[in-house]
This record gives sequence, C-alpha cells and structure tokens, in this order.
Amino acid sequence: MEILSRNRRLRQSDAIRQMVRETAINASDLIAPLFLKEDFIGKEEITSMPGIYRYDLKSLMQEVLELDQLGIKCVSLFPVIDENKKNPRALESINPAGIYQVAIKEIKNSFPEMLVMTDVALDPYSSDGHDGLVDSKTGKILNDETLEILCQMAVLQAASGSDIIGPSDMMDNRVGAIRKALESAGYKDTLIMSYTAKYASNFYGPFRDALNSAPKKGDKKTYQMDYGNSREALRELQNDEREGADIVMVKPGLAYLDIIKLFSEHTCLPIAAYNVSGEYAMVKAAAQKGWIDEKKIVHEILTAFKRAGASMILTYFAKDLAKHIIE
Ligand code: PBG
Repeated sequence: MEILSRNRRLRQSDAIRQMVRETAINASDLIAPLFLKEDFIGKEEITSMPGIYRYDLKSLMQEVLELDQLGIKCVSLFPVIDENKKNPRALESINPAGIYQVAIKEIKNSFPEMLVMTDVALDPYSSDGHDGLVDSKTGKILNDETLEILCQMAVLQAASGSDIIGPSDMMDNRVGAIRKALESAGYKDTLIMSYTAKYASNFYGPFRDALNSAPKKGDKKTYQMDYGNSREALRELQNDEREGADIVMVKPGLAYLDIIKLFSEHTCLPIAAYNVSGEYAMVKAAAQKGWIDEKKIVHEILTAFKRAGASMILTYFAKDLAKHIIE
C-alpha cells in the first residue's frame, strides 16, 4: 500500500503543530464585562457566576488596573441599579450624575488607553425589566418612543468618555438613530459595536440575576431574535451596516457559531461574539464538579469563536484567560 498524503506529518510535534495552527487567542482579543453596583461598598460574588462580582467604584478601579496589567484592552460596563431608582421610563439611565457616568470618567482618567464600552438598553433601569419602553395599556414594547431615550443615553455616555457604544436593546433603527445623535453632538469618533444578531436566548439567566433585571412580565421575543433563524440575522447585519455600525456582534456565542461564520462570509466589518453568562455558568458548574478541565475547555471554546470568524470576544473568562490560559 502506497500512502503519499499523510496528514499526521503536520501533527507530529508541538513545534510543527504550532507553526501550522490557523487560530490563536491573544489578551487583546478579549473584552471583559464588569458589573458596577451603586450604594454599596466592596464587591460581592454573583451566585450563578462564581468568580464574577458586582463591584463598587473603588473595587471596580482595582479590577480595571489588574486587567490592564494583564494586557486586556477593553472593558464593557453594566450597571446594577437600586430597585428604588427604577421606573417605567428608565430615567436613571440619563442621569448625568449617575454612577455609570462617574465610572466611565474615572476609568478614562486613570487608564486613558483602556477602551471603555458602554451598554445602551433600558433593562437595568426599567421597573418593567424590558430593553424598551412598555405601553402600560397594551404591554407592547414601543420601538420609536424608545429610540429617543437610547440616543440620549448614548450621547451622555460618549460625553462621559465612552469609546464604544454597545446598543443591546434590539429596537429597529437604533444604530442609525444613535449614529445620527452622536454625529450631531460632535462625537464623530465614538464607535458603535452593535448587538446585531442578539437572540431571545435562555443563556442570559445568570446575567439577569446579576442585575436583577429579568422582565417582570412576558419575555423578550418581540424584539430579540428567534433562535430558529439564521437568514434573519443577515437582515439585521444589512441594516446595521447601512446604519453606520463599526463592529457587529453575535450573541450568544457557543450555540451560534454558525451565525458568526455566516457574518464572516457576508461582511467586511469586524465581528464580535459574546460568550454569555449562561455559557460561563455551565462551564463553571461542570468544572466545580470535577467533570471537565476548565482551563482547557475555555481555551477550546474561545478558539472556536475565533475560528468561526470573531475577531473579538466578550467573555467573563477574560481575566483567567489572560492570566493562566494564554501561553
Ligand atoms: C440586556 C442585556 C442582556 C445581556 C447583555 N445585555 C440580557 C438580556 O437581554 O436580557 C446578557 C449578557 C449575558 O448573559 O452575559 N440589554
């Protein structure tokens, strides 16, 4: 028997395997999501996300310092708002003196090189727990009425120093509306990383625990995408490109690698993927039971995100990866 083509030749040593490897992860590919809590001192662990904390401003700054030293270039902030400050109009989201604005300024003051990404959606501030305004009579999530406050949030965040605006609300035309608002307020260089294909997913549970932001009534299926669909993701992509998005995101990630791949075949924009809270919790839970090797699994999962076409990854594993996993 004559064998001419032997694939195993390229697998025979670590050196040759490393030379032919197509995909590598760097600390600079990672975005660390951070939870900031007001009216509170210290840091508290989130039960369903072991190793992830709600921080007060002081401990948040310490965490950003450590991430900076590990070579992480970007943090994405999420606010945990006191229940008594939530209301149906989500007005705390546009409070110029709010903790979110203060934190953006502090981080940019101390770490001018660190990119700060900020979230635009109403759910952390809304007593209804929805990303848009709710019609009190019909219970409908109002699209065009929501855009106005989203634009105000985006401009306020940009004014506080945010580098990257992340609309995560899934209202129609929010990217276009926010882009116009930023341009006319003079924030021409502020980036928009759109949550372009954001699915109505069951993987967001631990995040909603962290923020106490679960919808009080109903679910998010009238605005987030149906997980049975992929061609619809391309319509979202086309809209966001036309509306001026700089980076397009797929969320969640692990069960949506096909969507990341689809994006990589249809856009020239950089692609981000969000390795969401439920994905984090599953890995942590299995690792705590000793059923999987956490570090190896995390490296494999995030390599798959990059292989599928993501050039950056929002992940709660960012610090661990930068510290222990990336060689
Ligand atoms: C809401 C928002 C969610 C996440 C980020 N922004 C949850 C939701 O849509 O209910 C989830 C992130 C995660 O699960 O890690 N605007």
